[in-house]
Amino acid sequence: MTQRINPSILSADFANLEAELGRIASADLVHVDVMDNHFVPNLTIGHPVVARLQQVSPIPLDLHLMISDADRWAPQYAETGAYSVTFHAEAASDPVGLARRIRQIGARAGIALKPGTPVEPYLELLAEFDQVLVMTVEPGFGGQSFMPETMPKLGLLDEARRAHGLDVWLQVDGGITVDTIGIAAEAGADTFVAGSAVFGADVPAEAIASLRDAASRHAHAHG
Ligand code: DX5
Ligand code: ZN
Repeated sequence: MTQRINPSILSADFANLEAELGRIASADLVHVDVMDNHFVPNLTIGHPVVARLQQVSPIPLDLHLMISDADRWAPQYAETGAYSVTFHAEAASDPVGLARRIRQIGARAGIALKPGTPVEPYLELLAEFDQVLVMTVEPGFGGQSFMPETMPKLGLLDEARRAHGLDVWLQVDGGITVDTIGIAAEAGADTFVAGSAVFGADVPAEAIASLRDAASRHAHAHG
């Protein structure tokens, strides 16, 4: 089973993003948190910066859009050439239609669920998505504590993807460290976002290797 470590640049030095990307070149994808000060209270970067990161990044971009009115804005982000575009279920009026547009543009389509959003309505729609992001903190800020009560959602998703024979990626985001990554891996996650655990380390590449190692020791056994 493939496991991916996607460092979040939310905890990187925003004045030196190109250099920061170079420090995580051993990761699988770079997780880019777009926040609009509306869907979440925080504000980060938008389309022009994402488009420029896409040009200079040594690894593909995994965009996490924490923005309202995703139906309107997400396709423009896909058009930057990003590898993956994930929008929030709570911010989209037509998640399936939006995922289809994103795929048509050529990006992988992801849907994200806040901790309080039930997963059940999406289990039958899994074929429409390339990734489901189970938020393990309330979206908006880095450095928060992992919420283990979100783990049952991963179990249901893992069961549904196996039942339908799909290889949709199951991503977790928020509070992922060497201590919590195993819990998420055992629950069925295969794609792990880590912000402060990577950029808060002296050597990000070493933190990536430690996270990879901890995840692989807890890889979910498929029955
Ligand atoms: C939070 C963001 C995360 C954030 C995670 O809303 O979506 O991607 O960067 O940061 P850590 O790993 O520090 O919890
Ligand atoms: Zn994120």
